[in-house]
Formats: sequence, C-alpha cells, structure tokens
Amino acid sequence: MNTTRFRKIEHIDICLNEDVESKISTWFTDVIFIHRALPELGLDEVNVQTSFLRKKLNAPIIITGITGGHPETFEINKTLAYVAEKLGIGIGVGSQRAALEDPSVSYTYSVVKEYAPTAFKIANIGFVQIKKYSIDDVVKATEMIDADALAIHLNPLQETVQMEGEKCFKNILMKIGKLSKELSIPIIVKETGAGICREIASLIAEHTEVKAIDVAGLGGTSWSAVEMYRALRKGNNYTAEIAKTFWNWGIPTAVSIIETRVGAPNLEIIGSGGIRTGLDVAKAIALGANVAGVALPALKEAVKGAERLEQYVRKLIDELKIAMLLTGNKTLKQLRKTDIVITGKVREWLELRGINIREYLEKFR
Ligand SMILES: Cc1cc2nc3c(=O)[nH]c(=O)nc-3n(C[C@H](O)[C@H](O)[C@H](O)COP(=O)(O)O)c2cc1C
Repeated sequence: MNTTRFRKIEHIDICLNEDVESKISTWFTDVIFIHRALPELGLDEVNVQTSFLRKKLNAPIIITGITGGHPETFEINKTLAYVAEKLGIGIGVGSQRAALEDPSVSYTYSVVKEYAPTAFKIANIGFVQIKKYSIDDVVKATEMIDADALAIHLNPLQETVQMEGEKCFKNILMKIGKLSKELSIPIIVKETGAGICREIASLIAEHTEVKAIDVAGLGGTSWSAVEMYRALRKGNNYTAEIAKTFWNWGIPTAVSIIETRVGAPNLEIIGSGGIRTGLDVAKAIALGANVAGVALPALKEAVKGAERLEQYVRKLIDELKIAMLLTGNKTLKQLRKTDIVITGKVREWLELRGINIREYLEKFR
C-alpha cells in the first residue's frame, strides 16, 4: 500500500479543518511604508508585471507547492492551474514523491501542465528524498508537469516531529549541488514554514548552482501544528506533545527575506510564509524578495471553486497596486527601492544579527 498518498490527503484535511497557523506572526507589522498623501499617480498606471527566473509574470505572485498524489487532489491542482494560467502567475505542485513511487497517480500532477500550459510551473521534491533519486527520476518529475523550475523543499522540522519522518539529514547540500549542475532547468531551494537564515542562504549560494530561494518563513502554516493534529488523530500523544512544543519554531518571514538576501545577494527570492494580503506581498518585495508566494489561502479558496480562487488572487493584486500607489511607486522595480521604516522586533533582530538596516536598504535591495 502506498502510504505517501494517504498522508497527503490527511495533510489537506487537517489544513482545511484545523487551526494550523503559527501563533507568531510574519513580523510584517514592524515594516512600515511611508504614506504619500500626494501620490501624483493613477491606479491604472501602476504596473505589477515582472519576471522570475527569466519568465514573465503578470503579477509577482506564485502559488507555492501544495498537493498532488491522491485522486482527491486532482481537482485542487486543476483549479490552481486554471487560475494561475488565467491570471498569469506562477504555480507549484506538492511533493512528487507519491508519483515517483506509484506512477498511477501522476495524472494528479500532470493536470497542471494541461490547465496551465504557459504559466511558470514548479516541480517539487523533498530534500530527504533526493538522496535516493537518480537524475532520471528527477527529470521524470519535472517532465510530469513540463516544469520551468524544480523546488527542492527543506522540511527538517516536519520530518523530526512527524511519527514516520526521516531523522537524518546528512550530505544533502552536496547532492543539491550535484543536481543543480546536472539539471537543465533552474533549482529553487525552499523551506516550508520555518524560514531560511543568512548562513544557510550563503551555503546554498557558495556550494550549489541553485538559482532561487523560497524563504517560506514563520508566520503562516506551521507544519509542526499539522503533524501534531495527525499524531493526535492516531492517538500518539507523545509525538503530539513534541510537535506542539515546536508549533511556533522558525524565522519570521520579514527577517528571513532580509537574512536570505544578505546571505545570497545574487539569487532570486520568493518571499513566502504567512503572505495573506496584497499588502504583505508589497512588504515582501520592499524587503528584498523578487516575488511572493502563498499556499494555505490558495488551497482554502481552491476547494470552494475556481471563481473564489480567482477573486482571492485578484484581491492580492489590487491590494498590491494600492500599496504601490500610496507609496508613489509605479513599478515593482521602484517598490523594491522604496523607503521603509523598520521598527520593533525586526529592528532588534537585525541589530543582534549584525545587519545594518540603512546599509541593507541601500545596498542589498
Ligand atoms: C496542504 C499543504 C501541503 C503542502 N505541501 C507541500 C509540499 O508537498 N512541498 C512543499 O515544498 N511545500 C508544501 N507546502 C508548504 C507551502 O508551499 C508553503 O511553503 C507553506 O505552507 C507556507 O506558506 P503559507 O503560510 O502561505 O501556507 C504545503 C502547504 C500546504 C498548506
């Protein structure tokens, strides 16, 4: 029996029906734009087009890896793909381990290439799985969705608090480095809700040919929370308690974007983890991200239908445009350089980590 595919459906069920979000925020509230009472700009002049890893996007938004692998995930991926194609944003699939173990479920992923033929598509495999995979397996995963990039997800928190998770994470950087040289499409290294720090970003930049990092910081979906609910449902109180302890573990998204930009100044960045509004998208970009990523809200809307998801993404885009108007920025290039005030915990964090705020805002963005 293929247990991976059943775990996938449990994850979806828990994410839709339980409170799985971090109790610590993204810290975006400590990042404040300077309101311009005389913007001298019309909303219809604001342009949110951009490119990511050389592909054009109509807006700097990516639905990051969520699902696939169980027949019930087919409709979700179809809806995500349909809306991504219609609005010209990026889309990732969830871990493709299930299809590499059991090709009969490949269609739950490949539906994405049917419904989003021109969108920017991201294949997905886990960092603990890549040790076992040959380059042919990885190519199989990317071809399954006609991917423009491959995300390798790092989830040591989830694995260590998960009942059946992997507990050894050695020699993986080397394998990522090797894959990044062999694969013909770019690799994105992504976290899954606990963030990336400066040191890890610079290890990735120095030892691999990875082209982008998705920070997936703390402030949104907590995979420790998800695994706590799974353990509770199975009556495993011991594992549930451990998972609960680490519910809020990680690096808040606001500081993770800055840390990653400092550690890997030349890589492209997806700012994600707790992105819920277009104002969050604007802040992620003003802090140094190239684009922003959302997962949980996209899933919650997708199960209600394509119209609901489309409305949600349109709202993200409109809110982003309003934030740009109110800061007098016509383009994302300008938004990336816009003046921001960094207060509170973010400021404290940066000071303690030896990152000079002024220098960062002037030289790294
Ligand atoms: C139901 C669900 C399943 C997910 N599965 C994957 C996965 O298979 N691979 C992956 O890289 N990330 C996965 N993620 C993590 C997201 O891509 C994202 O990094 C994380 O949820 C933080 O973003 P959010 O706060 O917007 O949800 C999943 C997220 C959700 C909600």
